[in-house]
Amino acid sequence: MGAFDPWDPAFVADPYPAYAELRARGRVEYFEPSDQWLVAHHADVSALLRDRRLGRTYLHRFTHEEFGRTAPPAEHEPFHVLNDHGMLDLEAPDHTRIRRLVSKAFTPRTVERLQPYVRELAGRLVGDLVEAGGGDLLKDVAEPLPVAVIAEMLGVPEADRAPLRPWSADICGMYELNPSRETAERAVRASVEFSEYLRELIAQRRARPGDDLISGLIAAHDEGDRLSEQEMISTCVLLLNAGHEATVNATVNGWWALFRNPDQLAALRADPTLVPTAVEELMRYDTPLQMFERWVLDDIEIDGTTIPRGAEIALLFGSANHDPEVFDRPGTLDLGRTENPHISFSAGIHYCIGAPLARIELAASMRALLEQAPDLAPVADPQRNPNFVIRGLKGLDVRVG
Ligand code: HEM
Repeated sequence: MGAFDPWDPAFVADPYPAYAELRARGRVEYFEPSDQWLVAHHADVSALLRDRRLGRTYLHRFTHEEFGRTAPPAEHEPFHVLNDHGMLDLEAPDHTRIRRLVSKAFTPRTVERLQPYVRELAGRLVGDLVEAGGGDLLKDVAEPLPVAVIAEMLGVPEADRAPLRPWSADICGMYELNPSRETAERAVRASVEFSEYLRELIAQRRARPGDDLISGLIAAHDEGDRLSEQEMISTCVLLLNAGHEATVNATVNGWWALFRNPDQLAALRADPTLVPTAVEELMRYDTPLQMFERWVLDDIEIDGTTIPRGAEIALLFGSANHDPEVFDRPGTLDLGRTENPHISFSAGIHYCIGAPLARIELAASMRALLEQAPDLAPVADPQRNPNFVIRGLKGLDVRVG
């Protein structure tokens, strides 16, 4: 069994045995290389996500200096301005305000209305894959589907969509542990370009509103309150990035798990009514986002250990999703699992706003692949991305027929 080491490819390939060791050792453990406290049990991860003594940011209460941290270098400013005005990196009251405004435009009804479009697009992408006799499931289906859906929702014209994925990938590099200088430079460049593009698009929608989400965000108001220009830009980037990164990985991680569990895949093919529980189980079994961090805003105690204000906690979602105290035989893929309180969409105030959309997308591509490619099979073992937090594959080559 390997140790917890997010920079070790062997750990990244299969972190679950190391998580089991961590859980067996206790409820909280200091990890010196990233200066974080690791929390690996489901009950603790779930409780801490709801604990207001923790936050995704501390800047609503303290300066960097007061919190004992150094401000990020000035040259990273474009990334931080973008990131720090999105709801994911805000706490109350700004988080509450922005999430409420965004929820006015991004409603369950707008998502539900998309259902036929998502199904039709999934069918078309899978149809092309089948016609070609196979291809890369990531590039041909998993990626284009959520990118097109969120771009369509926001009203990003088709001709402008090519840079969305590279911008997003470059920005997401900053969410890994200790990003390199080169990663930071790429993220800053992407932040500048992405922001400029959206500023222009928002100006166009202000002049000529449509029935897209950007127009909805411009119109959204609440007791006289509106999103500022920067909040609009940050929200669009967040929706575009969060709206596809995890879905792409959940799709390919899920299919790779199915290929490695042929009995489960056969059961799913024989009974497609399993699709809803299969989607949840695959998100649990190989968790697409393995870890989220929280700052300790006021001292907390876990199992007799005091974690002081200013410390950082790493909530290990992948471990929580494999905790035998909550999941019967957690290492077994069971597509019919009905009791499945996985934490892949988080919990508390930052619970994923896009979860209903993600579920529609994952089910649509799964159904299309089951129906149109009943003999879908991998061509070779895929290569894994070296990243720990955003867990995914470089590609997944498949054949049909
Ligand atoms: C399989 C797909 C997805 C997964 C696994 C996922 C997971 C998550 C998680 C874990 C969080 C909270 C992180 C934390 O607590 O620190 C989150 C937040 C968020 N997600 Fe998702 N997500 C997915 C798809 C989507 C989609 C499709 C959208 C939008 C269209 C989206 C938009 C967001 C937004 C805006 C937030 C921030 C919510 C807030 O801070 O209040 N996500 N997501």
